[in-house]
Amino acid sequence: MGSLNFIAKKGQAITGEIRVPGDKSISHRSIMFGSLAEGVSHVTGFLEGQDALATLNAFRAMGVEIEGPSQGEVTIHGVGMHGLKAPQASLDMGNSGTSIRLLSGLLAGQGFDVTMTGDESLSKRPMKRVIDPLALMGAQVESAEGGRPPLLLKAGSALQAIDYPLPMASAQVKSCILLAGLYAQGRTSITEPAPTRDHTERMLEAFGYEVEVNGATRAVVGGGKLTAADIDVPADISSAAFFMVAASIMQGSDLTLQHVGINPTRIGIINILRKMGANIALLNERKVGGEPVADIRIQGAALKGIRIDEADVPLAIDEFPVLFVAAACAEGETVLTGAEELRVKESDRIQVMADGLIACGIDARPTEDGIVIQGGQFQGGEVQSHHDHRISMSFSVASLVSEAPIRILGCDNVATSFPNFVELANSVGFNLSIEEASAA
Ligand code: S3P
Repeated sequence: MGSLNFIAKKGQAITGEIRVPGDKSISHRSIMFGSLAEGVSHVTGFLEGQDALATLNAFRAMGVEIEGPSQGEVTIHGVGMHGLKAPQASLDMGNSGTSIRLLSGLLAGQGFDVTMTGDESLSKRPMKRVIDPLALMGAQVESAEGGRPPLLLKAGSALQAIDYPLPMASAQVKSCILLAGLYAQGRTSITEPAPTRDHTERMLEAFGYEVEVNGATRAVVGGGKLTAADIDVPADISSAAFFMVAASIMQGSDLTLQHVGINPTRIGIINILRKMGANIALLNERKVGGEPVADIRIQGAALKGIRIDEADVPLAIDEFPVLFVAAACAEGETVLTGAEELRVKESDRIQVMADGLIACGIDARPTEDGIVIQGGQFQGGEVQSHHDHRISMSFSVASLVSEAPIRILGCDNVATSFPNFVELANSVGFNLSIEEASAA
C-alpha cells in the first residue's frame, strides 16, 4: 500500500482561533437516522472524513438519496424504517469500527442479506461483542474466524427484545443493540458498566424516538418510527484534543477552539488535563440540537503527572494517545489503569504509543490495562503509527517540543477523522510536512 509519512519538527507557541472538523460519532449517526427517517433531514458541520463517508456510501448503496457532502452540508431523503434496499455488493466500512458495529444492529432485522467488509485494521478488530447480543435477539450473523470481519448478516430473522448487561463500557455495542431494538418485538434494554458517549440516545430523541433512561439502563420499544430532523454537528472534541494538548505544552500559547461538542460523556480530556494543571476555559456554553457546545480557550501551562481516575477512562477513550504525550511533557509520573479497551482500537494504542514514546526517548512502561509514563524530554526519532490516525496526530503534537524532528510513518489514515489536520495545525504554530512513501 502507498503511504504518507509526516516529518514533524519543533513548533512555535500555539495561537489563533480555529474550528476543527465535525464530530465523527455524531456525523455517523446523522446519516443513519436521516436515512431511516420519514422526510428530508439537513445536516451541517458534517465530518467529510473517510469513516463518516463509509457510512454515507453504505446508505447510498442501500438506495438512500443523499446530496453532498459539500462544505459540511448533507441533505438526506429518508426512506423510512423499512425502506432500505439490498445493496448490489458488500458494504466497505474501511477503517471504521463505528460503521460496522452500529450497522450490524441496524441491518440485523432487515429483509435482505448484507456483507460488511473492512480494511486491514478493521479486519482484526473484535466483533463478537456485537455478534453475541445480536444472536440472542435471534439475528443470524456470520463472521470470519475469531469473530472478525467480514460480517454476513442473513435476512429473515424476526428479532426479539433482550435485556443485556454490557460486558464492557462501549458506546458502539450499546448503540448496536439499541438500533437492533428499533426492529425487535418488545422492549430492548442495555445496562452499562460505566457511562459511555450517549449520542445515539440523544439523536434518537431528536428524531422523535423515545429512549427510556433509568440509571445505567437505556431502553427502546421496537416498531416505532423516526421523523426527519436538522442536525448541526459540533466540532469533534476528539480532534480538538490534539490542539488542547499542543497549546498546553507550548509556553506562551493562547488558542481558541470554536463550537466544540462538550457532551458530558466526552469531556474526560478536559477533566484529565485540568487535573494535570492545564489552563482551559469553556466560553459561550450553549446547546445545539440536543448537544452542549462551547468555545474552548487553552493557554500554555506547566503540567504535572497524575494517577488518572478510572471513571474518566470511558469519557476520554479516544484521547489517550495524545494524553500520553501530555504525560510525557508533565513533571513526574502519570499512571493509567482500567483502560484495556485501548488495546482493541484502530491499533493496540497502549503498545503502539509505548513503542513510539520509547523511540523518542521517553520512559514509558505499558501494563496490561494501561501505562506508566515518566515526564521527560522528546529527543526525536522515527515512530510507526500502524496506520492509526490518532497515533499519527499525537506524535505530531509531541514534535512541537522535540529536540530533533520526529518522522511518523503511515499517516494516511489521518484522513479518516481529520482530513485537513496538517494545514490547520501548521496555521497555529506546528511545523509539519508530508512525505510520500512508496511502501507501508
Ligand atoms: C464510538 C465509540 C467508541 C470510540 C469510537 C467511536 C462511537 O468506541 O472509541 O471512536 O461513535 O460510538 P467503543 O464503543 O468501542 O469504545
